[in-house]
Amino acid sequence: MDTKTTVIDPGQLDAQFGYCDQIAAYWQSRNQTPTAYVETYGCQQNEADSEKLRGYLVQCGYQIVQEAEGADVVILNTCAIREHAEQRVFGNLGALTHTKRRHPDQKIFLCGCMAGQTVVSDRIKVSYPHVDGVFSTHHLWQFPEILWKVLSQKKRQFYITDEPGSIAEGIPQVRDSQLKAWVSIMYGCNNFCTYCIVPYVRGRERSRKPEDILQECRQLIAGGVKDITLLGQNVNSYGKDLDCGVDFADLLEQIAQIPGDFLIRFMTSHPRDASQKLFDTMAKYDKIAKQLHLPFQSGSSRVLKAMNRHYDRETYLEKVRYAKQVMPSLVLTSDVIVGFPGETEEEFEETLSLIQQVHYDSLFTFIFSPRPGTPAAKMEDPTPKEEKNRRFDRLCALQNEISEEIHHSYVGKTLRCLVDGKDKSFLTARTEGGRLVRFCADESLIGTYQMITITGATTWSLSGELSKV
Ligand code: SAH
Ligand code: SF4
Ligand code: F3S
Repeated sequence: MDTKTTVIDPGQLDAQFGYCDQIAAYWQSRNQTPTAYVETYGCQQNEADSEKLRGYLVQCGYQIVQEAEGADVVILNTCAIREHAEQRVFGNLGALTHTKRRHPDQKIFLCGCMAGQTVVSDRIKVSYPHVDGVFSTHHLWQFPEILWKVLSQKKRQFYITDEPGSIAEGIPQVRDSQLKAWVSIMYGCNNFCTYCIVPYVRGRERSRKPEDILQECRQLIAGGVKDITLLGQNVNSYGKDLDCGVDFADLLEQIAQIPGDFLIRFMTSHPRDASQKLFDTMAKYDKIAKQLHLPFQSGSSRVLKAMNRHYDRETYLEKVRYAKQVMPSLVLTSDVIVGFPGETEEEFEETLSLIQQVHYDSLFTFIFSPRPGTPAAKMEDPTPKEEKNRRFDRLCALQNEISEEIHHSYVGKTLRCLVDGKDKSFLTARTEGGRLVRFCADESLIGTYQMITITGATTWSLSGELSKV
């Protein structure tokens, strides 16, 4: 799968900025400040894309608002990972008929991973006539053009052609936080795990150039950002399409050498490609958070093979052992799927025993959801839904016990935390490993690192107080 990465020509991007100017002039001539609402579903990749959509919208003169009611533009940036995620979007899309009835000039767009499936765009064409535009993730960089065509031609736009995908540098971004930032280092996925829709809707793996990523990180750090999360579906294959001699561990190292007081973290690491070199690099630099999200999906080597994951239980456990050895304070999280087609009770119990053995800080737990077009959707699946639900509940109960136990072990420790916001009468902070801590102090501390002594723990969060020393 050695496709060369296509970069969108700066001239093509300039043309998009030309559309932004036309849209801004359109609203100025009407003496109006238009408003826009972007709703994001799914993972951090979509959060990062929404920041770009907001960047474009601001460039077009829109003011960003927090609800669909009354907004001139509404964008639903969607997720296709499970059926439930799609149903929610269709439900919310249906509800937008009412907001549009009250504000007939409202323009509604659907983008993101669902938009990359023809079944979805066909359904929108036929059954959701109030949707003005649909564009897949490959066409996000063309959003100003799409919006301009909808405004000026009064015609629905569908930008959904299937492509391997490209990279567009220089799209403006309106970031959600001044303290924490997502930085996409690569797009797409080549792995084709048999249950997963992502490679079909996000195209082939393509990496941004190291110098572009470094420049973005330097700018963020200079602007006061303290916590950077590098994003990719499989960050460990970073650089393979570039032939530039920089792999993911090298990239991390280069970012860690930027002067300043900040932490870098990343997601997601595929266990097949997570190397000792990566763990050694993490261990070497204080600026790399000792946090690792390493999805295992199943504790059974037979199921892992059927999932096309390219590692088995033993190799996974060996990697975890090494990572914990070189980083004793490592906070380890993971993803797991319950009820993959054909998973037996014994295989499920192997998943439970792996969880026991590894002792994850927390887990993202999913029940298998068949995705049309993926190989697993066609596999025989004799296990009844009720049995899958029972397994899911057993797994969650086990993990909750472990999370609680780990959280209790924090009590009495004093940790350096980034104070990142407010929650009712509390301030919130994050430990280096990303655990949430609530404590009482003056709001002026938001944006600073503080030493916090942990005084209490629940399954989900920690509480503490400012350290006296
Ligand atoms: N690239 C990341 C995962 C992205 S999707 C990785 O490989 O780790 C996030 C998680 O959703 C996956 O790790 C998996 O646990 C879950 N998932 C993906 N497809 C699914 C499906 N069809 N049914 C249930 N869970 C799924
Ligand atoms: Fe999906 Fe697998 Fe790619 Fe992750 S690595 S996005 S689970 S195909
Ligand atoms: Fe969902 Fe797309 Fe992310 S399918 S999980 S939003 S990559």
